[in-house]
Amino acid sequence: METLISRQSLDRKGRYKEMIPQIEELLREETDFIANLANTAATLKLALKDEASWIGFYLVKAGELVLGPFQGKPACVRIQLGKGVCGTAAKERRTLIVPDVKKFPGHISCDPESKSEIVVPLLGKDAIVGVLDVDSLSLNSFDETDQHYLEQVGQLLMERLP
Ligand code: SME
Repeated sequence: METLISRQSLDRKGRYKEMIPQIEELLREETDFIANLANTAATLKLALKDEASWIGFYLVKAGELVLGPFQGKPACVRIQLGKGVCGTAAKERRTLIVPDVKKFPGHISCDPESKSEIVVPLLGKDAIVGVLDVDSLSLNSFDETDQHYLEQVGQLLMERLP
């Protein structure tokens, strides 16, 4: 495997653009879903560095979200569909950008220092597979640029589902 780079001199959009082909390359080489989630979380963490305090996946299992591969501090393991930002994004099958987690009713605080968040649903052919969750220690960290590229990452992962 080639060494992954992320030029921190680039702005965030530039780093996303640099990262997408790297994720495509990683996914091309492997079909194991968990391995692909783990490498995707690690690649995203390289690109977003300190801008993201936590990057990871929750997967739908028996009607609830269960913690999957991630980068960051240990996190809450189970989230009910419809609860928190992750459960709401999963239930409504749409990306949620939360500029201030304190203002999101029912936000689940795994890390009390987390201040803003974006959650992207992983939409399989027939059902929701899980969510990609990115947290930040700053307010207002995420916008439509993050949504665009993180949704693209989600699509790449879904294309590799067996
Ligand atoms: N804050 C999320 C819970 C997951 S952690 O942030 C890793 C939520 O409200 O669903």
